[in-house]
Amino acid sequence: MNNLLKGKRGIIFGALDERSIAWKVAEQCVQQGASITLTNAPAALRFGQIDELGKQLGAEIIPADATNLEDLETLVTKSMEILGGKIDFVLHSIGMSVNIRKKRAYTDLNYDWMQKTYDVSAVSFHKLMQVLYKLDAMSDWGSILALSYIAAQRVFPDYSEMAESKSLLESYARSFGYHFGETKKVRVNTISQSPTVTTAGSGVGGFDVFFQYSDKMSPLGNASADACAEYCAVMFSDMTRYVTMQNLYHDGGFSKMGMNPAVFEMVCKEDEE
Ligand SMILES: NC(=O)c1ccc[n+]([C@@H]2O[C@H](COP(=O)([O-])OP(=O)(O)OC[C@H]3O[C@@H](n4cnc5c(N)ncnc54)[C@H](O)[C@@H]3O)[C@@H](O)[C@H]2O)c1
Repeated sequence: MNNLLKGKRGIIFGALDERSIAWKVAEQCVQQGASITLTNAPAALRFGQIDELGKQLGAEIIPADATNLEDLETLVTKSMEILGGKIDFVLHSIGMSVNIRKKRAYTDLNYDWMQKTYDVSAVSFHKLMQVLYKLDAMSDWGSILALSYIAAQRVFPDYSEMAESKSLLESYARSFGYHFGETKKVRVNTISQSPTVTTAGSGVGGFDVFFQYSDKMSPLGNASADACAEYCAVMFSDMTRYVTMQNLYHDGGFSKMGMNPAVFEMVCKEDEE
């Protein structure tokens, strides 16, 4: 391994099972020499497999509901104690839509559920950064990342209220990135990832067909969770110190495509069948 993150300390949110993008990021960061703590919502700790990952990586697991400021304060304080100093990198890998789960149409959203979705999927990112900022928990030239999706910019009807959640998430990266950069030389970015087979991803209607469409449309094909983990490690490393307040596409080129003949062929084949 390259030891890209040798001696660095990190907190990874959102590893639920081995398909989770955060699971792969945690493995990659430790392979690259980092020490980390893992965290997830208390309920997810009960039905997920994070214990296995903790054992495998020698990482402590600290429960935290990312919408709860007290939980976040405890998490950050404990992580600094366990890891022995300020935090060099943080991954926010959290998403959940109540209206999608309950199959409510976008034209008939339940607004209480929508608020919950925003709180979990986006406002939690601001809360996390505010806690890190107030506790002065980030090392100089540290790196904070959240995972996003292109539905923040383009319409993907089945993505429903998650589209607005991701727009808000990306906006927080820009706005907080300014404050973190000015005062603490910390960078904040979002990575806009290809569709990826995970619990959260597969919960979106029509995911399988969309996954194939996106794979065909992208000249490099869909980026895998493992590839995303490698990109995150680079973004946490000292090689990217001046990249901040950006939404970075990690999508095999999908975001720049208009039409790909491979998609055309796929549609024609379907018409013939
Ligand atoms: N899978 C995809 O196609 C895809 C594509 C682009 C971006 N993303 C984003 O990647 C991130 C990770 O998702 P994933 O695909 O690995 O799925 P996942 O289901 O494995 O991860 C989502 C995580 O969010 C956690 N979570 C939910 N509510 C929480 C709360 N209140 N507090 C703390 N954690 C909470 C879940 O427990 C879970 O671990 C999400 O932000 C998702 O939107 C996913």
